[in-house]
Amino acid sequence: MNDKAAVVRRIRFRLNGRQREAQVASHENLVDLLVRLDLFGARESCGQGLCGCCTVLVDDIAVSGCLTLAQLVDGCEVHTVEGLAEKGKLDFVQQAFIDEGAFQCGFCTPGFVMMTHELLKRIPEPSEPEIREYLSGNLCRCAAYPEIIRAVQTAARNRPDPAGVAGEHA
Ligand code: FES
Ligand code: FES
Repeated sequence: MNDKAAVVRRIRFRLNGRQREAQVASHENLVDLLVRLDLFGARESCGQGLCGCCTVLVDDIAVSGCLTLAQLVDGCEVHTVEGLAEKGKLDFVQQAFIDEGAFQCGFCTPGFVMMTHELLKRIPEPSEPEIREYLSGNLCRCAAYPEIIRAVQTAARNRPDPAGVAGEHA
């Protein structure tokens, strides 16, 4: 689409607990908006909703940022991986991925971390099949899947309390 022809509108939303405003083109996706706001954790890889690298939480629901129009987050609460650490301390899911060595290149990790937050909010003590099913939309080209499963199990054990889950930070 020609940018000159795009309709631009102003949106207001909360991003990692802070009120934000932005001008967005009608065709702009959420990942591109986050990049414009200097957040690079959600990565566009496939651009087709197939890999999960762009996963963020919108009103506590994991979405593919590559398929979500930025204008649709108007009035919403958006959480990205950048908002998880507090006072320089990684949150329990991030720490579990470190502790279990659940990555190699790390490109997919923010997406897995955000999806794990949604999983543990909905199923606090997931079985291994439930973890595999829930994370089936997230792909890791380094094939760190065994370590990722262990990281989710470790995060479930270390989950501080419901208030520690993304979406309730703000
Ligand atoms: S980049 Fe969005 S799902 Fe792959
Ligand atoms: S750690 Fe490299 S793609 Fe997952």
